[in-house]
Amino acid sequence: MFDSLEALSHRLDATGYFINPVMTQVIYLAARLQKPLLLEGPAGSGKTQLALSVAKAGNTHIERLQCYQGVTEAQAIGSFDSALQRLYLEFSKGQHTDWHSIQSGLAGREFFRPGPLMRALECERPCVLLIDELDKVDDGFEAMLLEILSAWQLSIPEFGTVKAKSIPFVVLTSNEERRLGDPIRRRSLYVRVEHPTPELESEIIASRTPDAETSFHREIAGIARSFRNYSLEKPPSVSEMIDFARALQLLGTNHVTEELRDVLLPFLAKTEKDRRHLMLREGFKSLLDDGERYARELAATEGSPS
Ligand SMILES: Nc1ncnc2c1ncn2[C@@H]1O[C@H](COP(=O)(O)OP(=O)(O)O)[C@@H](O)[C@H]1O
Ligand SMILES: [Mg+2]
Repeated sequence: MFDSLEALSHRLDATGYFINPVMTQVIYLAARLQKPLLLEGPAGSGKTQLALSVAKAGNTHIERLQCYQGVTEAQAIGSFDSALQRLYLEFSKGQHTDWHSIQSGLAGREFFRPGPLMRALECERPCVLLIDELDKVDDGFEAMLLEILSAWQLSIPEFGTVKAKSIPFVVLTSNEERRLGDPIRRRSLYVRVEHPTPELESEIIASRTPDAETSFHREIAGIARSFRNYSLEKPPSVSEMIDFARALQLLGTNHVTEELRDVLLPFLAKTEKDRRHLMLREGFKSLLDDGERYARELAATEGSPS
């Protein structure tokens, strides 16, 4: 998918995904060694986006299995289309002479609707297989995946083993609602994804609000940091900070003041407890002060006027 580290780095850059050089190297190694990448970290820290960006950078498509409690193997692997099978039976009435021929007719590949796992293995050239929010499924489902990821094949009772035509670049993500099993951890390259550093976050914000000043981008990154250091139930993620920055632009301001607290709270407080916390006037004010301090520190390290 990527011939060199430089090519990956350059093409990932072009997708607008911001990443540190070490992480780029890990992605490159995972791609070359055909190892799944396991991204674990808080919601909104860019895990899903990374998989989408890698696909874009690799000029390939993405097969996405969105996990949730109760997702079935049939949804992941695929299942026979029973309506189509019934149609076939009606259409071919009288043509079958024995049970065996009916059975083998119905087990034809054309009646099987592949799910994302099977589609990924059947790709002629490697795609990105994103198995998103794996922490939402149970142990049994995880064990099934393990088999596919180690043997790169699927067993479907009706028509046997499907071997991979190409080995996908697998990205597993977890928001840590359940602890993933050790076997899947061992098989993968484990990457802890945290909220970005203020430097990186201000670049991300800059890319989404390019017409604003650098000082504005830094201020948002500083506020993000100060809110995450506060003990909130749901600290704001990058995507919330992007919305926050856009909201400020719409409000026609490039500086956050405490007067804007009530209109900005819906962007920053996502639970009643957090909202009440932030409604304490001194609480909000002191967070803004901290944010400004972080923004100044950022300006100092980046060596340009704040
Ligand atoms: N490193 C990054 N570079 C660019 N955008 C990012 C980055 N991290 C997060 N984002 C933005 O934040 C949004 C949420 O990220 P997402 O991948 O959905 O988070 P997660 O899957 O970890 O919950 C993305 O759509 C993207 O706009
Ligand atoms: Mg996600």
